[in-house]
Amino acid sequence: MKLYLKIWRQKDAKSKGKIVDYTLDGVEGDMSFLEMLDILNEELVSKGEEPVEFDHDCREGICGTCSLQINGEPHGPDRMITTCQLHMRKFNDGDTIVIEPFRAKAFPVIKDLIVDRSSFERIQQAGGYISVNTSGNTVDANAIPIAKQDADQAMDAATCIGCGACVAACKNASAMLFTSGKVSQMALLPQGRVEATERVLSMVRQMDLEGFGNCTNTGACEVECPKGISLENIARMNREYMSASLKG
Ligand code: SF4
Ligand code: FES
Repeated sequence: MKLYLKIWRQKDAKSKGKIVDYTLDGVEGDMSFLEMLDILNEELVSKGEEPVEFDHDCREGICGTCSLQINGEPHGPDRMITTCQLHMRKFNDGDTIVIEPFRAKAFPVIKDLIVDRSSFERIQQAGGYISVNTSGNTVDANAIPIAKQDADQAMDAATCIGCGACVAACKNASAMLFTSGKVSQMALLPQGRVEATERVLSMVRQMDLEGFGNCTNTGACEVECPKGISLENIARMNREYMSASLKG
């Protein structure tokens, strides 16, 4: 297939970016979206031009680093997959594809299609952990009975890979789906209850400090999330936050 690519190019965080047009021939349906970009970059390098910078690591839908806005949708037109799992068979010969970085004030562009998502790390650092006594009296986690439903819901919340698609999909650039997944995975387990009050207050405070917007219940985040993180987590985080605020 022959494709017409419109790609956001930006020299560095301070420069003004712009969309640049490229034509790429010989793209096959079995190629992944990132392999298609690899081929474009090989062509650019062979012509002595700067390759397009984009983030990637595992290329298996696990790490969450590949984050592209493709024709206006985070991770492209397919549901429940990351950009690296998107295949070119989803497109047709002669298609125009617009490729941009995720857009949010809290995700500043570093270069071309790469954004800085360290704001997510800081939210996680604010409370996304449990403290365990390792002085020799450590209790085996498996010795604490946990209801199957709670274990399943905690596991579902823990599948968030921190890709940021929820933020990119949201008209308010809200990080509520991400943060609520991280809060929920611990709030649902007895080990996470010990610091639950402090955790939710601290993670929500950091989320606000980073400049993410609020949730207005449009649900775009859930639709675009490659891991199917449910809006129920946002409702749970709001309950946790309300009860923590009353205790404080
Ligand atoms: S909630 Fe979903 S979309 Fe948001 S960061 Fe986690 S995996 Fe990505
Ligand atoms: S490169 Fe790791 S999820 Fe896509």
